[in-house]
Amino acid sequence: MKRVITYGTYDLLHYGHINLLRRAKALGDYLIVALSSDEFNWNEKHKKTYFTYEQRKQLLESIRYVDLVIPEESWQQKRSDIHEYHIDTFVMGDDWKGKFDFLKEEGAEVVYLPRTPEISSSKMKHDLYDAASIEESKTNHDDLNTDPGNV
Ligand code: CTP
Repeated sequence: MKRVITYGTYDLLHYGHINLLRRAKALGDYLIVALSSDEFNWNEKHKKTYFTYEQRKQLLESIRYVDLVIPEESWQQKRSDIHEYHIDTFVMGDDWKGKFDFLKEEGAEVVYLPRTPEISSSKMKHDLYDAASIEESKTNHDDLNTDPGNV
């Protein structure tokens, strides 16, 4: 059985994530996702997630391509994960291209898959924030227009 591993935060799960997971699973028979813990996200990646680790884990576990979710708690664990989980193939999106080539030393194949264009969790957060700001300024504007003190 060919075992594949990939790492990430997977906040606000979106179709770019699903595309990555589908192609990762197609490289083997068993897909493990090492999911960044809340502490790791905050302390090391400087990311504050919308969903907690447990919520992100539950979402990933319900995806048909994902066989196992484990926590990612350090940058160093990749080397030991490869041995502990008998990994054949290590997969990441190509935003990490070249960064993990050293894992070949541990006997794993290293694959970078092209990212799905124009979507990311941070873009969704920004777009939703912008949409909420526009909505709020519209409401304030309407309030001004109906304020009798303004007539
Ligand atoms: N990914 C992808 N295509 C996208 C977004 C993400 O293939 N459009 C891949 C990443 O390359 C990574 C995995 O999905 O291998 C998890 O990425 P993650 O960083 O959690 O998702 P992003 O949406 O990129 O999150 P952020 O905006 O916070 O960086």
